[in-house]
Amino acid sequence: MQLLDGKIVSQSVKDRLKVLTEERIQEGKKVPHLAAILIGNNGASETYVGSKVKSCAEIGFKSTLIRLDEHISENDLLFKINELNDDFDVDGILVQLPLPKHIEERKVIETILASKDVDGFHPESVGRMVQGLPAFYPATPYGILLLLEHYEIDTIGKHAVVIGRSNIVGRPISIMLSKNEYPGNCTVTVCHSHTPNLKEICLQADIIIAALGKPEFLKADMVKEGAVVVDVGITRVADPSKKSGFTIKGDVDFDAVAPKCSYITPVPGGVGPMTIAALMMNTFKACAAKD
Ligand code: GUN
Repeated sequence: MQLLDGKIVSQSVKDRLKVLTEERIQEGKKVPHLAAILIGNNGASETYVGSKVKSCAEIGFKSTLIRLDEHISENDLLFKINELNDDFDVDGILVQLPLPKHIEERKVIETILASKDVDGFHPESVGRMVQGLPAFYPATPYGILLLLEHYEIDTIGKHAVVIGRSNIVGRPISIMLSKNEYPGNCTVTVCHSHTPNLKEICLQADIIIAALGKPEFLKADMVKEGAVVVDVGITRVADPSKKSGFTIKGDVDFDAVAPKCSYITPVPGGVGPMTIAALMMNTFKACAAKD
């Protein structure tokens, strides 16, 4: 069993971007600039956005963090997004999800200019991705592809089983893995809450992407010997023994599943850091598209 180490691969992606950004500066070109909007005080969202801003600084990107009150009206938020759309210096815009209940996620996503949609959530980005056109890939599935690529995981003709069909991970990764290019050319099965024979399907999988958000859902008796397992779960579970009061659990029962795998991602330190690396790649591309 070998770990798919997201920390190492994410660092190598960021190191590469740092060099490319320094080159841009020497050539007198624009410095990539990410604007992140954080609404309210959700602890997990604070952590994720904090990591994104920190990564920008490490690479040499500009970043702007806009903190908004959880009671901000939808109109005021859309107005703020439009200001960022109109600001030439801003290359990428992300609004951290989830949003407060009174704000419609769809409206927010559709207000971000497709050319600045570094999260890859806009219907235009999704449509372009599905049709195989150049597009911003959503950061988590894009990060998974970068990880598979780094470890030269053989995907061609393999059976990939995706558990979960969210717009952020499950659905896009299922499309990406079926594409006629590396890392792809998989035969893909998408499983979800209405799949009756999930265990039997998982047992046929060469590659499993667990992205349903249920801690330790994937058990050892659901995994074929030698499978590649990618764990997208990052649920905070109460743990009084920890200073923070919680521990992070993936969707995979790691200790029991890992010995059966050829490769497996740890949680934390697997997909999480790759999501950020992929976001940085998208921000760089958004900027370079303006050259
Ligand atoms: N919340 C959970 N994942 C993501 C993500 O990739 N982007 C944004 N904007 N919010 C998220």
